[in-house]
Amino acid sequence: MSGKDELVRFGVSMPSDLIQQFDQYINEQGYTNRSEAIRDLVRKAMLQPGRIVPEQLVAGTIVMVYDHHVSELPLLLMELQHQYHHHIISNMHVHLNHEQCLEIIAVRGRMDKLRELQEQIQVHRGVLYCELSVTYVDEQREHDSHDHGHDHSHGHHHHHHSE
Ligand code: NI
Repeated sequence: MSGKDELVRFGVSMPSDLIQQFDQYINEQGYTNRSEAIRDLVRKAMLQPGRIVPEQLVAGTIVMVYDHHVSELPLLLMELQHQYHHHIISNMHVHLNHEQCLEIIAVRGRMDKLRELQEQIQVHRGVLYCELSVTYVDEQREHDSHDHGHDHSHGHHHHHHSE
């Protein structure tokens, strides 16, 4: 066991104007010390979608804004969410104004499937914004699964019938 919570100190050199800007930035963000701010920035960097491999199990949210007056769009979006029901944990719908809806979908599963869902949402006309953000990376990879047989490690059976 190599103490997971052990803190390692290291020195960082930075141009003084950069550290000034940084101090101002973290102050605006409510941090009272640089270390915690840097730790959070590093954690955020580790969750960048680009560095997560397709088969990695993750959890996060898809946030979208769309115009529900665009014909067929609400139906299409609902149909899509039914197709991905194994990946959708929960869903919150907010009527922003007469036209626009904000929807926040909590998702969990393989990175590539969640990306696929996000892409399929954003391409529709009337979808003004659609972003996938990953906030949690499962320690376990899909192929490390201790489940019986070949199934996925996130606890429910998962048949890709609708693709
Ligand atoms: Ni609405």
